[in-house]
Amino acid sequence: MAKLHVKFENGDPDRVIEFNPADAPFHHDGRPGSILDILLGHKIHLEHACGGNCACTTCHVVVKEGMAKLSEAEESEEDMLDKAPGLTPTSRLGCQAVVTDPNAEITVVIPRFTINLASESHEGS
Ligand code: FES
Repeated sequence: MAKLHVKFENGDPDRVIEFNPADAPFHHDGRPGSILDILLGHKIHLEHACGGNCACTTCHVVVKEGMAKLSEAEESEEDMLDKAPGLTPTSRLGCQAVVTDPNAEITVVIPRFTINLASESHEGS
């Protein structure tokens, strides 16, 4: 079984999903076996304004572990990601990053949903 550890920047409790990539699709949005597909199929909410079609950035996730186990990003994904608030070197679009390895162990962080690039957050000092 593959494992997907999910952490939430908004403070929701961590989740661990065990799944068999061969069982994809788990839901009906995003590429079959994508992080979005896995999350939705296990009743974990991830925004997906464009319906999982690589046309928005709301499904942005930050991969903390297991990047090499995900399908490689295509140019269309990279182009979209360039517009994502809070972009990191290990950012992916959840609807495009597919897990195929049945032994994959992946950790992702779901960033706080942000639209306003200019907004500043001041953490308690
Ligand atoms: S849901 Fe829109 S790009 Fe993934």
